[in-house]
Formats: sequence, C-alpha cells, structure tokens
Amino acid sequence: MKKIDTILINAGRSKRYTQGAVNSVIQRASSLIFDTVEHQKCATAGSTKGELFYGRRGTLTHFSLQDAMTELENGAGCALYPCGTAAVSNAILAFVKGGDHILMSGAAYEPTQKFCTKILSKLNITTTFFKHSIGNEISLLIQPNTRIVFLESPASITMEVQNIPAIVNAIRAKAPNTIIMIDNTWSAGILFNALKHDIDISIQAGTKYLIGHSDAMIGTAVANERCWAQLRENSYLMGQIVDADTAYLASRGLRTLSTRLRQHQESSMKVAEWLAVQPEVLRVNHPAIINSKGHEFWLRDFNGSSGLFSFILKEKLNTERLENYLNNFSYFSMAYSWGGYESLILTNQPEELTLIRPAGGVDFNGTLVRLHIGLENVDDLIADLKAGFVRLRN
Ligand SMILES: Cc1ncc(COP(=O)(O)O)c(C=O)c1O
Repeated sequence: MKKIDTILINAGRSKRYTQGAVNSVIQRASSLIFDTVEHQKCATAGSTKGELFYGRRGTLTHFSLQDAMTELENGAGCALYPCGTAAVSNAILAFVKGGDHILMSGAAYEPTQKFCTKILSKLNITTTFFKHSIGNEISLLIQPNTRIVFLESPASITMEVQNIPAIVNAIRAKAPNTIIMIDNTWSAGILFNALKHDIDISIQAGTKYLIGHSDAMIGTAVANERCWAQLRENSYLMGQIVDADTAYLASRGLRTLSTRLRQHQESSMKVAEWLAVQPEVLRVNHPAIINSKGHEFWLRDFNGSSGLFSFILKEKLNTERLENYLNNFSYFSMAYSWGGYESLILTNQPEELTLIRPAGGVDFNGTLVRLHIGLENVDDLIADLKAGFVRLRN
C-alpha cells in the first residue's frame, strides 16, 4: 500500500491536471467554452463528475486539489470553500432543517459554536454543547431530532483529545442516521484519518497546514459516499468555491505537508517537554505529551502531532506583566491563525475563555499561552521562551 508521503507527492497530478508540467495548471475561469451543442450537453450532464462546465463547479486546478484531498482522506469527494469557517458552516447547513438538533463539543472553535447559537438558532435549529471529555455517555444526549454530531479534536485552545471511537460507536448504535462531522484541522487530515474512524465528514481550515505559508485562506470538507452528493449540491447552491490561484497554493502545500508536519512535531514536542519542567508552568496541553488530557487517545488514534499546543502559567498575568511578556519576543509573533512556517503566540485569560465558549469548562486560574511552533531552529525558540520567563521573574 502506498505510504502517505508518496500519496502527498502524487495525488491530483494526473496528466489532465498538469498538462506536461510537474504541478497542476492554474486555470482561472468563470466561463468555460463549449465547441458544439453536443459538447455543452455532455459538459452539463457531467458537471458533477469532473467535466468542465462553469467556474463555480471548478476548473482543472480545483479538480486536482479535490481529487488529492479525496484520496488523502479516503473520501468519496471533497468540497472547497473560501475559508475554514465557510467549510464548517456550509457542511452543517447542508444537513439540517428547521426543528433539527445538533450535538457539539463545548470546546469547539468559537465561530463554529457561534454559527449554531447566532445563526442556526434563527432557523429553529437547536444545539446542545457537550463536555469535550464525553465518551459513550453521548448517547444520553441524543434526541429524536438530533441530526448532526460535531467533533473537534484536539479541542480548540485547550487541546484535549477526544475518545472518538467511543463517541462514534455510541452514536452509530443509537442513531445510525446521524451525520458525524469533525473539524480535523489540527491533524491536517493526515495525522488522524477521520473517515476511517467512521466519521462522515472531515473538515479542515486549509488556511493552516495545507496552505502552510500564512498567505491564503481555504476550507475543505471531505465526505464519505453517503454524504458526498448532498454536501456537494448544497455547497454549490450556496455559491461556495475558492479561486483557482488559492486552490493551486493548497495543492502546492500538499507536496511538503508531511515533511513540514514532522518538523512541527519534533520541535513542538521538544518545546513542550522543556516547558513542562519550568517552575512558572502549571501544565502543558500538548496531545503528544504524557499527562496532557486525552494523550492516551492521541497515542491510540493519531499518527503524529502538529505544532499547535498551549500551556498554562501558574500566575494570572496582569495587563502590565502580560504586555511585557508578549511584546518582547524575537521569534514568536502575535497573530491569529496557525499552521504556517512561522512561530506564533497568543494568550487567553480564564475569563476570556469562559466568555468565548461558555460550555467549555475552564479548569485553571492562571494565564493560558497558545504557541504555534514553526520551522525555525528549535533552540532559538526555546531561548526566546526562556527570555520570556526571565521577563516574568523581574
Ligand atoms: C480549529 C479551527 N477551525 C476552523 C478555523 C477557521 O478557519 P478560517 O480562519 O480559514 O476560517 C480555525 C481558524 O483559526 C481553527 O483554528
């Protein structure tokens, strides 16, 4: 069987898409010209099967990326979106109607939760947020109208890994028609194979590791056979597509994805292990580190780690100390997002976290620091963090 590194290099690079080059062509188009009436008929009939039809259905550049993602995540098809948030909201929207109910982790990405509480609620679609650490007890929360279970593992910001097989088995046993979706961004779709774990749809903010260079936004949703046609048609009717240039950048990102991830893993684990023994640190939330919540599930279900994790300072930094700490790093920039080649830092106070995800269950009093460990030399990064602790001691 082909190994993931080899799939990443070759997926989506058929002659039709590369036309003799190494990479797929960038085909920018709204209109795609039909030579004859017969051609128009064939293109229309085959518009969902890879025939060039109209820009919103995609061009060769999109098809190349879609084929690659479908192969990588073992799906029946892949829908593309202008960003990860669009992928999440449109994937959910494709499967609900008024009166339906959604079960969602209370530690899911904030805009994912807010899509439910602020937009779906207006359509009379209700959401129950469950404890991220839930296992087969999830079956107690299923209602007759539960349509979707939405997972995200590791959790946003706090990084706990879920017991996905227990959750999925409980849902399948009690409500087999429920659609199970996961925000699989942290694993870049290759460290955790969602569809092989009987999840129906694996969603990624490709903005992070697929693009990998912090210079473009894209979302992907890979669906299994039972969900693909509905996801594809709903996304099409909602006008969801990304431009060809961005689709190309995502395809190009795939070629170095596993190599980048290996370095993100190696460096982030080294930083995490160093942080774990610093006196200022209460605990480190890194799925690959022993004692991190859900580490045993990561060990069992994942093939590796990426570079995003968090740690908790014992002290809750006041504004002045927070500014002195954050404003003076050499290599850690402050910015939202993650998954690029560069290192990033952001903090959350407990009350900020409670505010953005009320059902998330915040269990610490200190300041949470989230790091994305980039591809810089790891000793330089540790020295930078060390200088941060020196600032805190003064
Ligand atoms: C876990 C997760 N999912 C989804 C998104 C949304 O992606 P985008 O910013 O491309 O909309 C993010 C963005 O930070 C994220 O961290």
